[in-house]
Amino acid sequence: MTCSRPSRRPPQAPVHNRAMQTLTIRRPDDAHLHLREGAMLAAVLPASAAHFARAVVMPNLRPPVATVERALAYRREILAALPAGMSFDPRMALYLTEALVPSEVQRARDCPQVAGVKLYPARATTNSEAGVSDLGRADAVLAAMERCGLPLLVHGEVARPEVDAFDRERIFLEEVLVPLRARHPGLRIVLEHVTTREGIEFVRGDPGPTAASITAHHLLWNRNAMFVAPGGGAGLRPHHYCLPVLKREEHRRALLAAATSGNPRFFLGTDSAPHLRRDKESACGCAGCYTAPTALALYARAFEEAGALDRLGGFAAAHAAAFYGWDPNPGSLTLVRRAGNAPVAQDCDARVGDDVVAALGAGDSPWEVQSA
Ligand code: NCD
Ligand code: ZN
Repeated sequence: MTCSRPSRRPPQAPVHNRAMQTLTIRRPDDAHLHLREGAMLAAVLPASAAHFARAVVMPNLRPPVATVERALAYRREILAALPAGMSFDPRMALYLTEALVPSEVQRARDCPQVAGVKLYPARATTNSEAGVSDLGRADAVLAAMERCGLPLLVHGEVARPEVDAFDRERIFLEEVLVPLRARHPGLRIVLEHVTTREGIEFVRGDPGPTAASITAHHLLWNRNAMFVAPGGGAGLRPHHYCLPVLKREEHRRALLAAATSGNPRFFLGTDSAPHLRRDKESACGCAGCYTAPTALALYARAFEEAGALDRLGGFAAAHAAAFYGWDPNPGSLTLVRRAGNAPVAQDCDARVGDDVVAALGAGDSPWEVQSA
């Protein structure tokens, strides 16, 4: 796998050429992305811009991106870090804090560069300390979002220490999401990085305007991947650790079935979450998988294994745009399949100072994005 720019051919319907083993789709969107700031931002941004036209950029900075003004300033910082000749259109998420007010919701709705408001339950994940501990206190803001159609992007996990790490999404559905839906039947909700069968069932069956993003790593790996050495045997694999944590095989299968079903409620969101190698490979390693450069190849592998390559274009390039009300992207991207397994490409790692952000999944797919 190499980390290359997409070709700039005219837009076209997904084409899967079996003889040549290529797949051309519309230029895709990443509906869930962490870009960070400063040197880290500069190091990881080109990988996303090389493959994705737009991304919903997460607001879990310190301090959090909690106002429209700050979101637009962060967006300008991202665009300033974009290498010359690349195009990328960041759509910002605002961090839901207890300080958010309904008038700011309307301001966000009037701003096409703001995609929605992100709910982080306090202490559920990286930089979530400013998150909401009692959703009841956000009710006026949620009602304003429901009225004007601004989506709520949900990190769907409870953070109570007595709840088992593998049950946090399921319990969140029961305790938070189902009652939230009942209180706000018209609220547009995205269950971000869904990881469980129960989450999939909720999204599929919910009568309201609900969708979910799905990561490439949750489609390809179950929780054993955190505990098995490359080639077999025991080993602790910090680069496979993210939140929500990888789940059992039955959940992975449910995610794969949903992603490849053609249902427009399910769409691509990498949750690419860069951390320095020394922060991942540590006695207390950070949660988050850096997949911006590898995700499309990993999704292609997952869709191919499910016999559904013809549905990758909808999942990657149409469903999120339809949910967010964005125009389809111009341009296309071609994936090429190598015979056998693609070689590991060290240049997928992003260099930051004297350390690197190690890409997860380089060499784990026979597919690669074709260079321009
Ligand atoms: C994300 C991060 O590092 O910002 N980590 C992760 O494991 N996915 C935060 C998040 O999306 O939960
Ligand atoms: Zn995330």
